[in-house]
This record gives sequence, structure tokens and C-alpha cells, in this order.
Amino acid sequence: MPHPLEQLRDEALRQIESATDEQALETTRVKYLGRSGSISSWGEKMKALAKEEKPVVGKLLNEVRNAVTAAIESHNAQFHLQKESGALAKIDISLPGTPHEIGSLHPLHQMHERGIQIFRRMGFALAEGPDVETEWYCFDALNTPPDHPARNEQDTFYLSDGRLLRTHTSTVQIRAMESAPPPLRVIASGAAYRRDEVDATHSAQFHQIEGLYVDENVSVADLKGELEFFMRELFGPGTDVQFRPHYFPFTEPSLEVYVRSKALKRGEQWIEVAGCGMVHPAVFEAVIKARDDKAYDPEKWSGYAFGLGMDRLAMILFDIPDIRLFAQNDLRFLRQFA
Ligand code: DAH
Repeated sequence: MPHPLEQLRDEALRQIESATDEQALETTRVKYLGRSGSISSWGEKMKALAKEEKPVVGKLLNEVRNAVTAAIESHNAQFHLQKESGALAKIDISLPGTPHEIGSLHPLHQMHERGIQIFRRMGFALAEGPDVETEWYCFDALNTPPDHPARNEQDTFYLSDGRLLRTHTSTVQIRAMESAPPPLRVIASGAAYRRDEVDATHSAQFHQIEGLYVDENVSVADLKGELEFFMRELFGPGTDVQFRPHYFPFTEPSLEVYVRSKALKRGEQWIEVAGCGMVHPAVFEAVIKARDDKAYDPEKWSGYAFGLGMDRLAMILFDIPDIRLFAQNDLRFLRQFA
């Protein structure tokens, strides 16, 4: 004769087996395992049992409760699975997906990346500085005295607190030297600003890659060789590079860089693309003052620096006729570089 608890268990298991939905299953659970369910109520009934019977029935009660709980759970899981696969079956996985518009890098950005890649291979590390600068970094430390025309309010954007939008990326030369002793080999890529009359080749915001190399015995030959290498990597082997004397306050001697390349549309034309030169001792002196040490002693160290006009380079490389196209956000223009 099975124990009444075993009978209850078998009865519950049969009902669970025949339940057709989650609700029927829940009703069965409450009927047997709920607070006053017929299996649960055996907890009370146990108190009336003889002492030696208690552990036997207690054990049985546990087993019965576990068996019924497990059956309900597994049945519930089955219902759940059926529901999910039913929902999945309604999805037509052969339908085409929703296409996302894939953007692309701006041609100027692509130009910077190309330039940076080449300089990386030549051992230059990337340095940084802010667009909003102090007069010290933009002018004073670069041997550009207060009466220099570059500092004229007509030529530069000043903020009311006396700071300004940097007129060139040469500011980063000073920041890099202030933060690390020589030898130093860095480039900095970013925007610069001037109050230029806007036309096909001038814009109030333009872009540069600045370079600085400080070591013992750096010479003009290093400067020329490395910039020539850069231009040939960029424009191809048929590229000629010319250096013409110029003046910049922060270099001595100073040079302008011109290129022409048979690989390009405007093949025969010399185009000015950069300024460069040997770092002026007065620039090292400014850094000595700022660092308050002799790390950049001009008797020991020399260096070259350059500033490449990235808008100009991109215009040559991609044959773009007007600098204003870079900022107009015309998708017909931008898509050509996707
Ligand atoms: N800062 C100059 C400009 O924007 C370009 C330049 C010239 C940068 C000579 C240099 C340099 O580093 O040595 O016109």
C-alpha cells in the first residue's frame, strides 16, 4: 500500500503531464505546493506523528516536494521553448536587412592620415597642443616680437581674455620641448587660423602638420633629405622638390618648400607646400627659460622644423580646385573620396 504522500505525488505528476498551458501548470502548482496545497499541508500533519515516524515521513515529504517541483519546472521550460520557437518561425530570415549608410573620412582627414603614416615610418612621434593658445606659445617663444605683423589684430583671432586661435601649429614645438628633453622627434597635426580674405586658396581655418627634430649635429641636409623623402612617398617617384630661401622668425636659415610632380595633373607647376628651417637659437633660449634648466643648450643641440600646408597638399594630391570645398559639406564633393 503506497503512502498517501506517494499517491499525492503520482496524482500531481499526472496532472502536470496533462497540463496544456502555463496557466494549467500554475493551477496544479498552487493545488499541491501552494501555502495550503495538499502536499504542503503535510508539514502540519507531521507534528501529530509518532516520534519514530517523523524522520521517515519528513524524508518522503522532501522527495515528493522535489519531484513535483522539478516536473513543473521542466514542463514550464518546455512551454517557454515552444513559445520562443513559434515566434522565431514567424521571422523571414531570407528578407534583405536594413542597410546602414556607411560614412567615410573627410579628404583632409585622409590627407593627415597619409602624412602621419609616412612620418611614423621615419620615427616621428605624435605630439599635441590646443587650438586656443597663449601669445607665449604662438609668438613670444617662437622669437616673434610684439611688433611683428603676425600679431596684428587684423591678422589673428583674439579672445577677450587675451588668448588667441593659433596661427600655426608651431606652438606644439614649444609645448613638446617644454615637456621632454632632447633628442626629440615629433610631429603635430591640426588646425590653424588666420584672418585671411577667403578665396579659392585661402581660408580662415586651415590645417598643418608640424615637425620638429632636435638632436646633436642636425643639419640642413637632414631637413632636405627627409622632406624630399616625404614628398616622394606622397606624390610618387617623379616628384621634384625645391627649397627657396625665406624668412621665419623661429628658424635660421629659413626655407620654403616647393614641389612639382609628373604624376599630378598640374605636373609642370611648382607649388609651395611648406615652410621650414633650422631651429633659431632664440627658440631654444625661450625653452630654457620656460623649463628652467639647460636641457636645450643651443651650444649642444641643433634642430630642424617644418610646417606643411595640408589643405594645399590635399588639393594637389586629389586635384581639388577650391579650398572652400573642404568646409562646405557638399555630399557630391565628399562622396568622391569615400
Ligand atoms: N609656421 C609657419 C607658417 O605657418 C610654417 C613653418 C615655417 C613652420 C618654418 C616651421 C618652420 O616649423 O620651421 O607659415
